[in-house]
Amino acid sequence: MAEVDLLARLPKTRRDIQKRHAAQTPENIAIAQQFGHDYFDGPRAVGYGGYRYDGRWIPVAEDIVRHFRLKPGDRVLDVGCAKGFLVKDLMKVCPGLEAFGLDISEYALMHCEPEVVGRLHLGSADRVPFPDGGFNAVISINTIHNFERADAIRAVREVERLAPGRGFIQVDSYRTPEQRELFLSWVLTAKFHDYPDGWMRLFREAGYTGDWYWTILE
Ligand SMILES: C[S@@+](CC[C@H](N)C(=O)[O-])C[C@H]1O[C@@H](n2cnc3c(N)ncnc32)[C@H](O)[C@@H]1O
Repeated sequence: MAEVDLLARLPKTRRDIQKRHAAQTPENIAIAQQFGHDYFDGPRAVGYGGYRYDGRWIPVAEDIVRHFRLKPGDRVLDVGCAKGFLVKDLMKVCPGLEAFGLDISEYALMHCEPEVVGRLHLGSADRVPFPDGGFNAVISINTIHNFERADAIRAVREVERLAPGRGFIQVDSYRTPEQRELFLSWVLTAKFHDYPDGWMRLFREAGYTGDWYWTILE
């Protein structure tokens, strides 16, 4: 179990925090939390403002393959895979790897990359319909904070169940009160978030033995 920054080589997106702050209305939060068209491809005020493949996940995929020593024939699951960008890039950097995704958004799955058609499953991270130990690694990036705490524990347990000791979970966090304020002025979808200590308590409660890292706004 280790803290490891597997997204270190993901290009940083520039975010207009002031603009998002003004957009944090109950209506916009409700729209974002539907994870539909507007969240991915609608206005920036309710989500990504356009979620398109541009290859930025390739270096991350390389680091995931190296970290978990994945090889052709191994199975990896991306929980919260959205349109399957990482699933596609995992198979690109490691030909023969069996990569799959799971997401709650029918919109994202219906607009997935052609290379991953049939590999993405509709479902919720707290109840994943795959067998115990079914994967050589399970990744979940910026997804599990979208649950309330009790359900987040169940989702972390699922990662552990599917790939004991071979998970990677990245979630929203902050290390200082200033970072927390900044996060609170930005967040739309996260329902549970905490300092790293709080997340570590949750991981322990879930019996999690995999790896983790934090998404921190700065
Ligand atoms: C911030 S996006 C992250 C997408 C992708 N992992 C990335 O890092 O670009 C959060 C994703 O979690 C998905 N999601 C939200 N709640 C979920 C749930 N209960 N189960 C599975 N996926 C969920 C959303 O549809 C969305 O695709």
